[in-house]
Amino acid sequence: MNIKQTGHLIKTPKFRPRRLRATEAIRSMVRETKLLPSDLIYPIFAVNGTGRKEPIEPLPGINRLSVDYILEKAGEVRALGIPALLLFGIPAYKDARGSAASDPEEAVQRAISAIKERFPEILVITDLCLCEYTDHGHCGVVEDGRVDNDKTLEVLLEAALSHARAGADIVAPSDMMDGRVAAIRAGLDQEGFCETAILSYAVKYASAFYGPFREAVGSAPRHGCRRSYQMDPGNVREALKEAALDVEEGADMIMVKPALSYLDVIRAVREEVNLPLAAYNVSGEYAMVKAAAENGWIDEQKVIMEQLFSMKRAGADLIITYHALDVARWLNDF
Ligand code: PBG
Repeated sequence: MNIKQTGHLIKTPKFRPRRLRATEAIRSMVRETKLLPSDLIYPIFAVNGTGRKEPIEPLPGINRLSVDYILEKAGEVRALGIPALLLFGIPAYKDARGSAASDPEEAVQRAISAIKERFPEILVITDLCLCEYTDHGHCGVVEDGRVDNDKTLEVLLEAALSHARAGADIVAPSDMMDGRVAAIRAGLDQEGFCETAILSYAVKYASAFYGPFREAVGSAPRHGCRRSYQMDPGNVREALKEAALDVEEGADMIMVKPALSYLDVIRAVREEVNLPLAAYNVSGEYAMVKAAAENGWIDEQKVIMEQLFSMKRAGADLIITYHALDVARWLNDF
């Protein structure tokens, strides 16, 4: 760097670090949008058994973990100041009805109780969907080649109750069936789980960005697609309608998913809804950044921070992201 260009800042070299630190501190103090470890939610893929830590090829750095390894991760999450985990399950068996979703011996249920026992202060959120548990890969019960909305609600409620019994703090229905928030709320209340909160995947697009996730949990539909129950990427008014319905049905928090191609949707929902709003920085968004960074084509840390700031700027209060541990480390180091 040329001395003349840098001007007075480095005339006395020993002042330089101090000036720069003060400048950064001011910048951080007046920044309009804050990003904190407490904004983050870290997703975890739970498998049965012990000693299992299986890499997921399109999600470098993310593994399918058995409960012993999940506890290790939970310790890291707590030390970094991340308040919550989001659990997904890869079951030992799949069937047409997705029965493993409410099996108390399955990976998710065992992970919930192990985490709550060791780290009661970590919030455990569970993804509530059937696509990981059904042999056909759809998010609901299939009858005559179509997903049956109301039969699915019964199975989802059974799964929600089994998560609540295991100690889940928040259940997150991601199936996009109609009326599921109301059904789950009523069912939880009836069994005395009035304090189990609902984070609804209210606005979930039919997106190609879920590709790596479906590979991770083996949930790609065997036939058809999810377009009959997930949203068309061209729509934003529909997002407001879906969000309003879930608010009415009793959701405690809502989500927009994916995040990066839907920042306008996050903003629009933020302006209409007063509940806490989460953005899901999904698997395909993570995979793209990782692939480019591994090739040395982008600066990984800067790109990720810029992306997360864009979600907060758009109006998200919380961000579910596979980058959570790295981001919290970077934020804590500063
Ligand atoms: C449904 C669910 C999916 C994701 C979260 N919950 C997959 C889908 O809708 O097909 C995707 C998350 C991601 O891509 O990171 N269980």
